[in-house]
Amino acid sequence: MTTKSLTRRELLTGTGKLVVGTAVVAGVSAGMNIFSNAEGSVPQQLPWPYEKLEPEEVGKIAYDGWYKAFCSYGVASGILTSLQKKIGEPYTQLPVEGLRLGEGGLVGWGTLCGSLLGATVAVGFIAPYDVGKQIMNEMLQWYSDTELPIYKPSNPKATVAVQTTSNSPLCHLSVGKWTKAASKSLGSPERKDRCARVTADVAMKTVMLLNDWKDGKFRSDRKLPSALYGITAQHNCNECHTHEIPEAIKQ
Ligand code: HEC
Repeated sequence: MTTKSLTRRELLTGTGKLVVGTAVVAGVSAGMNIFSNAEGSVPQQLPWPYEKLEPEEVGKIAYDGWYKAFCSYGVASGILTSLQKKIGEPYTQLPVEGLRLGEGGLVGWGTLCGSLLGATVAVGFIAPYDVGKQIMNEMLQWYSDTELPIYKPSNPKATVAVQTTSNSPLCHLSVGKWTKAASKSLGSPERKDRCARVTADVAMKTVMLLNDWKDGKFRSDRKLPSALYGITAQHNCNECHTHEIPEAIKQ
């Protein structure tokens, strides 16, 4: 593990660029150097230390977090504020509120479910790059295949009787299939609680995979869609390409 607390000088020499006074901001600019340097250069500051978390506790923080600032923030707060308490720095340097723009599949555009964005950011700090990639690959598959929500809050704010399978990690499909099956509007308390519960589910599942990894038990040889199809994609091709699935251009 390469994590250590970084001095201002180390950050300066690490990035060779403008240094802003916190490890987090400097960490991001160091990360950006990956793109300008040779492919495959390794950021020095990651991963951050991880200690196993209790999925139920994380789920509750995530559920409550949804009602503060929605899905992306909810998952990030479940995982990262727990680590702020358990480990302290560098997690305490990261204001989790910065994740709230992931709401509604990114400010209401219905792209990636914000809960998965929150998970991606948390895992990106916690796990080494290659492990994080496989963990998120498993997460997106699980999210697509699982009847959600599963989480049962101790003090539910609405009754959520319907579970749906999204077949996709996209917010638009996930919310759309649920609202259709439940006959509830986007603004209904039931839909809101459904998303708060999904937020808890995603936070808990992410923590279970991180805990497995910490125990040396995480294994995955699942291929990434980009490797399977020759184009970045989700697996539900025929939901959008209803007539014919186009072939990716091969060199
Ligand atoms: C969420 C909807 C959606 C899903 C899921 C999806 N596609 Fe697409 N795809 C599109 C749209 C929209 C375009 C651009 C319009 C077009 O060209 O048809 C596109 C474009 C493409 C292209 C570029 C070439 C072309 O003819 O447009 C390929 C190749 C392709 N998709 C293959 C796939 C494969 C393979 C899958 C499943 C693994 C998949 N797509 C899943 C919506 C989707």
